Amino acid sequence: MSLSDMAYQQPLSKCRLHVGPQRVMLLLLFYFFNDVAGQIRYSIPEEMKKGSLIGNVAQDLGLDVKRLRSGRARIVTGENIQYTELKTDKGILVVNERIDREQLCGDVTPCSFSFEVILENPMELHHITIEVLDVNDHPPVFKKSDIMLDISESANLGARFVLDSAEDPDVGVNGLQNYVLTSNDNFVLKQHVNPDGSKYAEMVLQKQLDREEVPHLSLKLIAVDGGNPQRSGTVNINIIVLDANDNPPVFNQSVYKATVIENAARGTNIVTVNATDADSGSNGYITYSISNVKSNIADLLSIDQVSGALFVSGPIDFEKDKKI
Ligand SMILES: *[C@@H]1O[C@H](CO)[C@@H](O)[C@H](O)[C@H]1NC(C)=O
Ligand SMILES: *[C@@H]1O[C@H](CO)[C@@H](O)[C@H](O)[C@H]1NC(C)=O
Repeated sequence: MSLSDMAYQQPLSKCRLHVGPQRVMLLLLFYFFNDVAGQIRYSIPEEMKKGSLIGNVAQDLGLDVKRLRSGRARIVTGENIQYTELKTDKGILVVNERIDREQLCGDVTPCSFSFEVILENPMELHHITIEVLDVNDHPPVFKKSDIMLDISESANLGARFVLDSAEDPDVGVNGLQNYVLTSNDNFVLKQHVNPDGSKYAEMVLQKQLDREEVPHLSLKLIAVDGGNPQRSGTVNINIIVLDANDNPPVFNQSVYKATVIENAARGTNIVTVNATDADSGSNGYITYSISNVKSNIADLLSIDQVSGALFVSGPIDFEKDKKI
């Protein structure tokens, strides 16, 4: 808030609390010259080059350029930074320092600053307000370049995954408008607005994940603003699909046929069975055992739990055990 705003909006006594002697002096001047001779308002885009024309002050105030010089016209401001310069030879106001709207006003709109042009002999005060218009000089930016998500393939449809949001210091249409998710079968994007007006998005599972089919997914979340030209920011979403034990072991053959001679020595390999399990880790670990056999057969055959190799483990009698 500039000095003049304070003078208009607050009682003098309140202002004294925060102002230095120079400003009190100016406030007192206001007191005497409170019929401020002129008020002008200019609108300029932020980030104009030093020396850019803001306005023809002499013309807009109805003053002669000679009077500006004889009255030693100058800018009086409460700010530390002299954003503007008065060219008394031409009667114009120009940019003196880079004006960064985001630095000056942050989220506040409209953004403006004010100062006085003072003239002597006789004393004259003119109030000038500069409104600084936003330029789309920032893209939406995500804090991180990657989002890592571990999602179980057994996750239910409708499961929600909140994504990091992007920030864009520009305001209005130049600020963050929208999120877009790269097209994919499994997730749709839902957008939400926080109470403070910021926007965030979440992915909603709409088609079951299948680790055996797609073990990881790479998506991109794009945040776009509404400026012209439009600017955007991107974050990669890396999804690792965690296994659920959703696959049984499957033998590579439905029947294994083998022959073995009578009285084959113990340890003779008859056949090796082989099953595979599409699940990973312990969900896919297979052990073999013989089941559903007549009790006497359990004495004749044994199986290697790990390799699936079937061995002779007892005396096989052709007459009794023709077919097992
Ligand atoms: C099991 O069978 C599959 C397919 O028939 C084969 O790719 C694999 O190598 C076999 N495993 C062993 C241990 O022989
Ligand atoms: C099944 O696996 C066994 C053991 O690895 C192998 O000997 C056999 O050839 C495989 N059968 C088929 C149909 O791949």
